[in-house]
Order: sequence, then C-alpha cells, then structure tokens
Amino acid sequence: MDLALIGTGYVGLVTGACFAEVGHRVICVDNDAAKVKLLQSGGLPIYEPGLEELVRKNTAVGRLAFTHSTAEGVEKSDVIFIAVPTPPLPDGSVDLSYIERVARDIAGAMTGYKVVVDKSTVPVKTGEKVAETIKRYCKSRVDFDVVSNPEFLREGFAVGDLMKPDRVVIGVRSRRPVAAMTQIYAPFNAPIVVTDIASAELIKHASNSFLALKISYINAVSVLCEAAGANVQEVAAGMGLDERIGRRFLNAGIGFGGSCFPKDLSAFIKIAEQIGYDFRLLKEVQRVNAEQMERFVKKISDTLWVLKNKTIGVFGLAFKQNTDDVRMSPAIELCQRLQKEGTILRVHDPKAMEKARAVLTGVTYVEDMNAVAEGCDALVIATEWDEFKKLDLERAHKSLSHPILFDGRNLFDRAEMERLGWVYKSVGR
Ligand code: UDX
Repeated sequence: MDLALIGTGYVGLVTGACFAEVGHRVICVDNDAAKVKLLQSGGLPIYEPGLEELVRKNTAVGRLAFTHSTAEGVEKSDVIFIAVPTPPLPDGSVDLSYIERVARDIAGAMTGYKVVVDKSTVPVKTGEKVAETIKRYCKSRVDFDVVSNPEFLREGFAVGDLMKPDRVVIGVRSRRPVAAMTQIYAPFNAPIVVTDIASAELIKHASNSFLALKISYINAVSVLCEAAGANVQEVAAGMGLDERIGRRFLNAGIGFGGSCFPKDLSAFIKIAEQIGYDFRLLKEVQRVNAEQMERFVKKISDTLWVLKNKTIGVFGLAFKQNTDDVRMSPAIELCQRLQKEGTILRVHDPKAMEKARAVLTGVTYVEDMNAVAEGCDALVIATEWDEFKKLDLERAHKSLSHPILFDGRNLFDRAEMERLGWVYKSVGR
C-alpha cells in the first residue's frame, strides 16, 4: 500500500522503515528540512539498533523516501499516519498543537478519500478533535476516516517490537478503514484488536501507566527486601513465574525515565482529573519513583559520608540501555543530584555521551569505560547497559582509592563482588 508517515522521530521513522521492509511504499515527511536532507543522504538522526540497515536497504530499492512536504506525502498515499511529538505542558497535560497543525495541513492537501491514522500518544477524545479539524479545514470536502493506532515500541528494541508486535490496536468510528488497516498489518502476523477510537486511545495510556506501576511496585518491594535482608531479584523471579504477573518490568533500580513513562503518567493523571477522577494510584507510582532516586543518593552519601569534592565515576547516561536517548534520564538526574552535593564526576555511556553533553556540563566525559575509575573515590552504575558487566573490575579496583561500587541497576552478583573485595551496594539485595 502507499503510506505516509508525518513526523520522523522515533515512532515515525522506525514505523516507516518497518512498513517499507514488509513491502509497502512509504513516504516519510518532516518539516525539519535539515533532518530530511540528512535522511535523504543516508544519515540517521537517532541511534536505534537495526534501523540504519532497514532505512538503507528500503531507500535503495525505492520503497522508502523522505520529503519535507506534507502535501506530497498526502498526495502520494492512501493512508496517512500522524507520528508527531505530543510533549507535556507545565501542568502535566499534553501539548496537542503539533497534532492540530498536521491535521490542518493534511486537510488542506486532500483531494480524495484518505485514512488518517493517529499514531502519536494522545489523550482520549483526540481522534474526535482530529476528525472535526480535518472536516473544518478540508476545502475539497472529500470523504475521510480517522483511526487511532497507538504504538507500543520500546526505544532500543523498536525494530523488533514493530516487526513482531504483541498486538496491533485499531480504533475506528466505522468499518470502512478496517480493511486498509488490516492489510497494512497483515505481514506482521500479530493479533489485531479493533475497538472504538476512545478505547484505542485509552489502551495506550493505560498500558504505559500499568508498566510504570509494575516498576514502582517492585521498587517499593525492594525497600522491604533491604529492610528484611531479602533479595528483590529472587522475589521478582518467584513472582514472575506466575503467568498472570510475568517477570518483565520487575527490575528494581533507580527508577524509570525516558520520553514516555513520566510524560504518559502525568498525562493520564491529568486526563483522569479532567474527567473527574482522582487517579491517586498513579500519583503514588510517581512518588515511589522519585523516592527511589532519593534513597539511592542517600545510600551513596551514607557510605561516602561527605560528598563534597569526592570524585565519582558514573556508568550510564542514557535513560536505559541500547539507546542514545537522555530525555528524562534517571542517570542524568542522578549525576545532577550528585553535582549538587559538590561531587566531581567522571562519566561514560556507550552511546549517549554526545547527546548528554547538551544537558550535563561540568563533568569529564571518558571514552574508555575501563579508564573511568582513575582517580575516583567510588563508582556508580546508573543505566542497565549489558556492556558494563564486562568492566575490567581488577583494573577498576586498583584505580580506586577504595573499591566501592553503587549498582543502581543490579548488574553484578553481590556475593561475587564481595568475594572480590568490593564494598558493593545495590538495590533491594
Ligand atoms: C515505553 C514502553 O515500554 C513502550 O511500550 C511504549 O511504546 C513507550 O514507552 P521506552 O520508554 O522505550 O518504552 O522504555 P522502557 O523499556 O519501557 O523503559 C522505560 C524506563 O523504565 C527506563 O528508564 C528503564 O530503565 C526503566 N525500567 C524498565 C526499570 O526501571 N525496570 C524495569 O523492569 C523495566
């Protein structure tokens, strides 16, 4: 099918590339001319495993193209996906101005029946507004359908999540666009859930909030584990074997971050408030998450006593592994908290150093992870990168004034670390 993706951020670009990979003709639109130029010349604005290859291959065979003209995208496609940012406003609600702008642009360019699909994460009832806007601004008065089709991809695993989705959610007002949507997703062999638009919109916020809740739950349990001398990883393993619970998203640590969970939680709380429901459960999820960071900082200061002028090596800046994204990163927040206490930081991340430089200043960026410990008083693991498990512990041990490691992501085995002579503090163990 002929598809347009408006917005070439994480969602738009990865979705566009995967649609092309399964045989659709895809045109990706972005109003950032420099970004379009970069993409046209084979460059990528983000790091995402497997994406570069997909983009290169599908551009070469002519199934994937880039433009900064929405009109061109609309004209060349039957189904148009909106994948533009929906950033948070200061009060936690969602800024829908990009969505509205794109809806108007699409409306202005339509000359025949189109299916307009909202892929961005939006508050319930946005689909209705998009439909109203298109109707208002469409001078040619052609027919159209609005569909809600939320994305569930995780950064760092986005290509895999898209190629093998757990489910595809399609929210519609009538049956008319269902055939086109089913045809688009047929190659992915996933269960397709067809709902009304409001339900589809709610599925997205309800899912992300539930996952955040799951993380806060295990983080709260980690507090009990520490007090009781239990091991949160063993507790999570035991809980996770119950199929109704599942082991995933039960990793205790310094809390969740990123461009989705914090924003989606605030938005869901706000949406509930506007509907007249006080979603206290989710407010507690936020509180537990913030507290988890404070508890970790306290753990560091309790051990090192005075933090002022101590040199700390921090492993991890990205909000999680396999990404260069530092938006709302707990690792960056931790660095800033430690800086506030007067510490001197030596930091390393396998992929996110370049992006971190824009938000984290006054630290030493160390290219070689095994050189981070030089001159440090202690080390901290802030992001769950697998690479960090390969750290040369012997060299680090020798470099440190005293071998202390605060593991905010439970990457190492506690008994083994103690056997190797480390003062090792992790979360919930
Ligand atoms: C999330 C959802 O998983 C995805 O379905 C949705 O489409 C977008 O939001 P993403 O933000 O890419 O994806 O990251 P995710 O893998 O969910 O991790 C979010 C945060 O939670 C990270 O900071 C991560 O470190 C943390 N996390 C995750 C934990 O602390 N413990 C866990 O067990 C899992």
